[in-house]
Amino acid sequence: MQNITTTIKKLFYLWRRSQVPLKQPTRISKIDKLIIFLICILISIISSYKILHVSPLSISNILSWFFTFTEALISSGILILVSKKENPSISSRQIILIIALLLAVQASKLALASTVSPLSIVIPPALIISQGMGSITALAWVSIASLIWPDPAIDINNNLFFILLICASVVSLLGGRIRSRAQLLQLSIFVPIGSFLSQWILVGKDKVSLINQAEFTFAKGDIFSDSLLLAIVMLFTILFIPIFESIFGLLTKARLLELADKEKPLIRRLSLEAPGTFEHTLLICGLAEEATRMIGGDIDLIKTGALYHDVGKLHAPNWFIENQDGTKNPHDEIDDPFKSSEVLQAHVDEGLKYARKNRLPKPIANFIPEHQGTLKMGYFYQKAKEKNIKINENDFRYNGPIPQSKETAILMLADGCEAALRAMNIDASDKEALETISQIIYSRQKDGQLDDSNLSKGEFFLIKIAFLNVWKRIRHRRIQYPISKNNTFS
Ligand SMILES: [Fe+2]
Ligand SMILES: [Fe+2]
Repeated sequence: MQNITTTIKKLFYLWRRSQVPLKQPTRISKIDKLIIFLICILISIISSYKILHVSPLSISNILSWFFTFTEALISSGILILVSKKENPSISSRQIILIIALLLAVQASKLALASTVSPLSIVIPPALIISQGMGSITALAWVSIASLIWPDPAIDINNNLFFILLICASVVSLLGGRIRSRAQLLQLSIFVPIGSFLSQWILVGKDKVSLINQAEFTFAKGDIFSDSLLLAIVMLFTILFIPIFESIFGLLTKARLLELADKEKPLIRRLSLEAPGTFEHTLLICGLAEEATRMIGGDIDLIKTGALYHDVGKLHAPNWFIENQDGTKNPHDEIDDPFKSSEVLQAHVDEGLKYARKNRLPKPIANFIPEHQGTLKMGYFYQKAKEKNIKINENDFRYNGPIPQSKETAILMLADGCEAALRAMNIDASDKEALETISQIIYSRQKDGQLDDSNLSKGEFFLIKIAFLNVWKRIRHRRIQYPISKNNTFS
């Protein structure tokens, strides 16, 4: 009997899942795939053709060319897979940027490796990739860019190769964490200094001399000029990062913090035209930030995403309860649950339009539809039912998709808990607050909204504790302090 119940429950669950829109993975168009493939072929050709530049050509040369060609092609493929794994929502433009940089580096090695230090060729692109695509993609890129050298005639000192790997790895790891342009500048000064000192120790002290005064060129093997060149190229790279951000839609930490500025026109409009939504947004930012910190997620991403999640309400602020002063509710006036549900869905659709107009990066725009997922608009669904109209439940669900990342899932949970926690009695105990939070989270789980979020059971527990901590803070803030007549200033 128990088996039958379990099977029915499973079937019911599967049926319910089939009713919601399928998750939409990032689509790469055929033309983009062709461009990416052609660049990979070009990388392989550049990396291997010099092997065939010998006469007489022997079978071992052809075999060696074939292995290098295949190695470069497979490495490019692995690099694309790693970048997709680290960042599932990566766009085709960003993949093109990663492999185009690899192509540029391979070409630079051919043209410049005999005159310019490999550090100046490999490290600056690693900085761009770590800033835009994260440390793991940058590390994968560095390992490929450091290992495949297209010109067999170029002989790199083993110590220099070791320094290159260390410096490029440091830049990749730190570049993914750096949160301001000032820290980037510090990195562009300290990495060249570090490379200079390590080369001085490992490669040789005798190779130190100032820039060649006669021609003002950077002499090969001169570790001072090599390090100076590295600093200059890194500084130029930092100057160009904002251009890369806008062309390739990169989301660097510095860009996230700029977008989180509450003086941004869209956020200013939200605070002036929809003050209730703005207050709701600020509270959600607090809840979501605390929960993300607990599970070790991307705090800057969720803070910025939370700030923009309800900007779509700007299209009709007074249709949302938090902006109503209690006198007039337009939903009561039209008395049409279908129209009301359309207005609610419009806050997602209009939000996406605002995101496009304001050139918000895709990971931020994703918070707009995913925070609502395919949730049911329960109030209007019940109203329609009361009217005895033949209704389809899906007409009263948001269009989705359901949250595709931990961060958007946390925002959905924070959005659900915010109103309930705000409405709770000031005398409510921690246990009651935790029960309310758990109920809301469980209802979202049961509804299948969190199926694609990748959140584990332990993380759900941590999110509940984080929300409870924020609730305690809110309660503390609401307690009235007795102010003595003699001490009104402190
Ligand atoms: Fe919303
Ligand atoms: Fe919201």
